[in-house]
Amino acid sequence: MNSAAPAIRRSYLTPPAPASPFPYHPGSLLSVLDLTVEGVSRLLARATELEKADPLLRDRILQKRRIALLFYESSTRTRTSFELAAKALGADTTLVSSLSSSIEKGESLKDTGLTLRALGAEAIILRHNSSGAPWLLEEATRLPVINAGDGMHEHPTQALLDLRTILTHLRPGVGETGPETLAGVTVTIVGDILHSRVARSNMLLLPRLGARVLLCGPKELLPEQAAGAGIEIVRDFDAALRQSQVVMMLRIQAERLAGMQLDLDEYKASYQLTGQRLAAHAPGAVVLHPGPIIRGMEITAGVADGVQSAILEQVTNGVAIRMAVVERALTAAAQGGRA
Ligand code: CP
Repeated sequence: MNSAAPAIRRSYLTPPAPASPFPYHPGSLLSVLDLTVEGVSRLLARATELEKADPLLRDRILQKRRIALLFYESSTRTRTSFELAAKALGADTTLVSSLSSSIEKGESLKDTGLTLRALGAEAIILRHNSSGAPWLLEEATRLPVINAGDGMHEHPTQALLDLRTILTHLRPGVGETGPETLAGVTVTIVGDILHSRVARSNMLLLPRLGARVLLCGPKELLPEQAAGAGIEIVRDFDAALRQSQVVMMLRIQAERLAGMQLDLDEYKASYQLTGQRLAAHAPGAVVLHPGPIIRGMEITAGVADGVQSAILEQVTNGVAIRMAVVERALTAAAQGGRA
């Protein structure tokens, strides 16, 4: 792990990864903090190169390399885009889902990982409901592991594709990105911050590029302790919108509420992004949402489908970013170290 990680890593919202005596694989992407700011810039540039590359040449890059997708939670965007990304580079992929594999019979994460390695997998893309699972899988298999979302902890490739989307809108044509690239940009993340790995990875990434991040939501879903370096809490959604160039809406994660009672009518009155609210307070802001969106809950259909929405651009950007991340996973060792 990166011992020079910023202090926000150690807030209760971003617990440190399990201590381990062994060096992590240089191709792994477990946290956005595995990447230096220069490494982020290189990945963004590579994503663009790969997106523009001739498909017939591109699919020689990882020809016949074997990548396993190991998914313990449902996914549409992440799973599909990783699979398309790997295949676009010529790799063979196999999907192991917890609902149709021996995981259902009680096989552990470690044994599943070792089995995939024995079958020839050279990298594993893991989505798991437990925070920290990718670190355990890497320790067990010593393969490059890509975190495709672990519990309430991190979703690094989502933050990278969100960054690419923001740059496309607010810094078009920018070449290299650095610590000042998003200076003057305020990104407001709204809703169920407590349970959101997407929020956490963005909170760890965007301030390192100069962005100011505002968090907005009710106390139940946004504890005071979430504030940190470059990250402020603004409970009044309209006030937050008035300061924002980007607004990132989040779904309430009903599957993680664990009995928490929320008054949904009150929630919608305070935090739903409506056309009226957007027009009144942030008529020029870019609207993001990692998906899945719940129309009529955190966002209205009109806003989701409206001209300020970049939600489907985020999905498209996922393929380019994940091509670069998958390529890094299988070539980083040969290139001599973690970026
Ligand atoms: N953004 C995201 O992680 O979506 P999926 O759950 O569909 O992969």
